[in-house]
Amino acid sequence: MGECHAEDVDVAGSSPACGTTGAKDIMYLTREEERILDGEEGEGPAKAMKLLVALGEINDAEKLIPIVSAQIAGVSYKTMGDAGLEFIEDFSKKARVLVKSTLNPAGMDLLDNAFEDPEFREKQLRLVDAYNRMGIETSCTCTPYIVGNRPQRGDHLAWSESSAVSFANSVLGARTNREGGPSALMAAIIGKTPYYGLHLKENRVPEVVYNVEDGIPPALLGYHVGNQVGRRIPLFRTMKIDEDGMKSLGAAMAATGAVALYHVEGVTPEADDFSIKGVEKVDVTREDIRELKERLTFDKKPEAIVIGCPHLSSPELERIADYLDQRKPKGGPELRVYTSRWVKEHSLQAVEIIARYGKVIADTCMVVSPLEGIYDVVATDSGKAVEYLPKLAGQKVIYADLESLLELVA
Ligand code: F3S
Repeated sequence: MGECHAEDVDVAGSSPACGTTGAKDIMYLTREEERILDGEEGEGPAKAMKLLVALGEINDAEKLIPIVSAQIAGVSYKTMGDAGLEFIEDFSKKARVLVKSTLNPAGMDLLDNAFEDPEFREKQLRLVDAYNRMGIETSCTCTPYIVGNRPQRGDHLAWSESSAVSFANSVLGARTNREGGPSALMAAIIGKTPYYGLHLKENRVPEVVYNVEDGIPPALLGYHVGNQVGRRIPLFRTMKIDEDGMKSLGAAMAATGAVALYHVEGVTPEADDFSIKGVEKVDVTREDIRELKERLTFDKKPEAIVIGCPHLSSPELERIADYLDQRKPKGGPELRVYTSRWVKEHSLQAVEIIARYGKVIADTCMVVSPLEGIYDVVATDSGKAVEYLPKLAGQKVIYADLESLLELVA
């Protein structure tokens, strides 16, 4: 970057990134950003800046913009393996984050001293420690917006967990692209991200309008729509939905499609900012969803019930506890309920009740922890888990609503 000369500097004190002379690909860097790219702040920040510049140029970003927070996936030793552990341990010696940064779920409950695989446990703890040395909070959840990393409308972010990205963009009106774990980490180290995609208001326009019949569960609606809509931005009409419902809806659409932003008329903050005149309209009926539900159900007994994808909120834990309390355990499938450490510690009464019937597990989830080898068939109420458990945890998966699942337990 020493070759970037003063004549390249524009009136705002920015200059084109080195190696980018094509009119289309130029991304402007401030003098400070150039200094970092040149290695004057050390090897770690230089590597981080290099990745962000490459990402920005691929996507025709004009510049970097400051971010308020980062949310970093790539935490489970199950998915990272030894190569990922080695990279993060090495990188942790070279860089620290500049903005509030939180982690996605790890591969196990970090307080589970009796975890069945001691080598996995040792490596998982090393991975989380390495992130922590960079200044990243080890809250290990896909619901950071419940546990103290809750952005405001208009905040720019670099988040990587797809369900959290969807929630931040859609429900909170913050702005983030669907980052990979590495790009979110590098953005946290620089405190900036390339300015393209969903950071720009003109890319947040609804592209398909869904008229939704009453009484459709958000998880199944999300599963159904995600399959149809792909990367486009849906706007839902005629729909009553609360925050937990939107958490579930967005997670499912991000899994079966690649939806990173949706709007709900009269509910989400940006839904009324755009005209939907001339936009394609699609009806979703209870009949559509009944057929889908039949496809996701089969006649086999689950060995475990897995609930909490995304991680449960306190009201959701309390709902489960209310159902179970005073009922007789049936000795059926094992109940596993996943939430964040923070919610677990702030819902002690509900946790105490649920623990009489099954396990309340924090810091991890059914997809990123090693379920394979323990079960073959599980049941869940999550549209995202239905999609991912067969692919990432080798499970046969049955979908059922929460009440039906709990009826198998007590
Ligand atoms: Fe969260 Fe794991 Fe589901 S990260 S959204 S509980 S797959």
